[in-house]
Amino acid sequence: MCGIVGYIGNNAVDEILLSGLKSLEYRGYDSAGIALNDNQGIDVFRAKGKLQNLTEVIKAKHISNRQVSQGIGHIRWATHGEASIENAHPHLSNDGKLVLVHNGIIENYKELKDELIKQGYHFFSQTDTETIVHLIDREYKRVSSLEQAVIRAISMLKGAFALCIMHHDEADKIIAVRKNAPLIIGVGKNENFIASDIPALIGKTQAIIHLEDNELAIVKKDSVVVKSFDGKILNKPVETVNIAQDAISKQGYKHFMIKEINEQPQIVRKMISTHMSSPQQSIRFENIDIEELIENIDKIEIIACGTSLHAAQVAQYMIEDLCNINVTVEAASEYICKKHLTNNKTLSIGISQSGETADTITAIKQAKEKGAKILILTNRPDSSIVRYAKYVLPLNAGIEVSVAATKSYTAQLTALCLLSLAMAEKQKNTNPEQLLPIKQELLMLPTKIEEVIYSSTTIKKCAEKYNGYKNFFYLARGINIATAQEGALKLKEISYINANSYAAGELKHGPIALLDNNMPILALLPQHSKTFEKMLSNCEEARARHAHLIAMTNSEINKKELFDDTINVPEISEFLSPLLFSVPLQLFAYYFADSLNLDIDQPRNLAKSVTVE
Ligand code: G6P
Repeated sequence: MCGIVGYIGNNAVDEILLSGLKSLEYRGYDSAGIALNDNQGIDVFRAKGKLQNLTEVIKAKHISNRQVSQGIGHIRWATHGEASIENAHPHLSNDGKLVLVHNGIIENYKELKDELIKQGYHFFSQTDTETIVHLIDREYKRVSSLEQAVIRAISMLKGAFALCIMHHDEADKIIAVRKNAPLIIGVGKNENFIASDIPALIGKTQAIIHLEDNELAIVKKDSVVVKSFDGKILNKPVETVNIAQDAISKQGYKHFMIKEINEQPQIVRKMISTHMSSPQQSIRFENIDIEELIENIDKIEIIACGTSLHAAQVAQYMIEDLCNINVTVEAASEYICKKHLTNNKTLSIGISQSGETADTITAIKQAKEKGAKILILTNRPDSSIVRYAKYVLPLNAGIEVSVAATKSYTAQLTALCLLSLAMAEKQKNTNPEQLLPIKQELLMLPTKIEEVIYSSTTIKKCAEKYNGYKNFFYLARGINIATAQEGALKLKEISYINANSYAAGELKHGPIALLDNNMPILALLPQHSKTFEKMLSNCEEARARHAHLIAMTNSEINKKELFDDTINVPEISEFLSPLLFSVPLQLFAYYFADSLNLDIDQPRNLAKSVTVE
C-alpha cells in the first residue's frame, strides 16, 4: 500500500532508491517515482505502472554523472486519483524547492486543499498528498526552517502518513515522519536510509531504528535525530536485523509464489517442533502463559482481513471443537463499524501477516479499549499491530514477497491449531488422551505437504485443462468452508477468474441457478468428515445440472461418472484437513494463472500490505 524510500550519502542515489523500491514493489505498482536533490535543484522522475518503466525513464535521462547526495522515492497503490504520471509521487511545491513522498491517506485534505487554493497554490494532481507539500511549503515560507515547517504542517493533518521530505535550501537532510503508517531508518556509515519496510534495506545496512507513531527523524549523512511531534529529542535504540539477501530472491523459481509454496513443509515442521517437543508433552509458547491467556474468558473473537480472515474461520472450528469456548470471527473492516460486545472477559485474537493492515490495527485498538485481552499472530513481530498486544505469537514464515499469501496462511493455520490444542490442554474437562491423536498426526503434516508438492504435475495438468473457463465454484462443508474460500480467493487474485465458494448445503438455495456446463466446480471432499456423504449428494445435484466437477479428496471414491477429474490428497483427519487441502488449492491457482501467462507475483489492483482503511 505505497512504499517509500529515502537515501542520503555519497553512493549512487538513484540506484539505491531504485533497488529499495524494487524490494517494496509488493506494496503497490500503479506508478513509481524518485526525486534527486543536488546543487542544481530538485529533479523529479516519474512513470506510470511498474518500477521497470521508471528505470527506463531514468536511463533515458543519463543522470548518473550528477553529484547527487540525497533522494527520495515512492511506489504507489492508487487511492486518491487514478494511476497516472500526474498522480505519481514525488510531489513538488509550486516553487520547485520542496518535494515529498507519502504513504497513507489524509482525511481532511479537501478542506486544506480549498484553503490552499484560495491562498494561491496550484495543484497538478488529484492526490491528497499534494496538499501536504503545499501546506509545508506555506509554513516554510513563514518560519524558514524545514523541521519547524513540517511540525506545524503535520499538526493540521488528519489521517495516516509516513513521509520523506526534502528541501533544496536545506539539502543536508531528509525529514522522515510517521503517523499510523510504517517507517524505519537504516543507519549506515556516512550514509543513512529511510524505508517503509526492512526488505528495502537488505544488503545496505543491518542497523535499524523503528520510528513509532507521532515521531519524526531528521536524517543527515552522518546523524539521525529522532523527535516527538512536539519537538522533544528521543533516545531511540538502534536494533540489528539479520535478514539474508536470499530471503527476498526467487532462488531459481519462476515466481515468488511457487517458491513460497515450496517453503511450506519446512515452515510447518519448524513451527511444530518449536512448540511441541513430543505429542505426550504439553504445547508451549515462549512468552505466552496459556492458563493466564484463557483465565476469566467467556468468549474469543478473532479479527483479520483477507487470507488471514480465512485462517480465523478455520480456527473458530478448531477452538470451539476442542475448547468449548464461544468463538466469533469478524472481518476487521466490519468490526470497526458495528457495535460489538467485547469486554474484559473477551480474548481478542488479531491475525495479520504484515501486522500493518490498517483495518485490523483499528479493530484491535478498539477491542483493547473495551478491555479485551489481546493476542496477535503475525509474521512481523516488529510491526505496528504488536504494540497493542499483551501476547504475540510470531509465525516465523520468513518474508513473503508474492502478493497472494501462501506460506503465511499455512503458518497461521499451524499456529492456530497448536494454540487450540494448547488451550484445550489447560481446560479442566479435557482428557489429554483425546488430543494425542491430533498431536501425533500433526507431526506427519510436513511430509504430507511435501507429498502434495511432489504430485504437482497432476494439479498442473488439471489447472491447464480448465484455464478457459471464466467462472468457478468451490464447494465444501464444515471446517473446510474457509479452505474453499481461500482456494477461490487465490484463483480470483492471480487469474482474475470469477471464483466463488459456497457451503455446499447452500447451493440449492440459490447458487445452483448458475450451474450449467460452463461452470466447473472444485469440491473439497475430505473422506473422514461427518459430511462426506452429504458433499457427494451435493456433487450429484450439480452434476445433474451438467456442471463439470473436480474432486479434491483423500478418499478412494471411484465415481468416474460423477467427477471429471480428481486431485488426490494424502490421508488426513477432518480436523487437520484445512492445513493440507489449502496447498493443492494454492498450486491449482498458481498453475492456472501461469498457464495464462499472468503476472502472478504482482496481480493487478492488489497490494500485499493494505495500510488504509
Ligand atoms: C491484502 C493482501 C492479502 C492479505 C490481506 C490481509 O489484501 O493482498 O493477501 O491477506 O491484505 O493482510 P494481513 O497482512 O493483515 O494478513
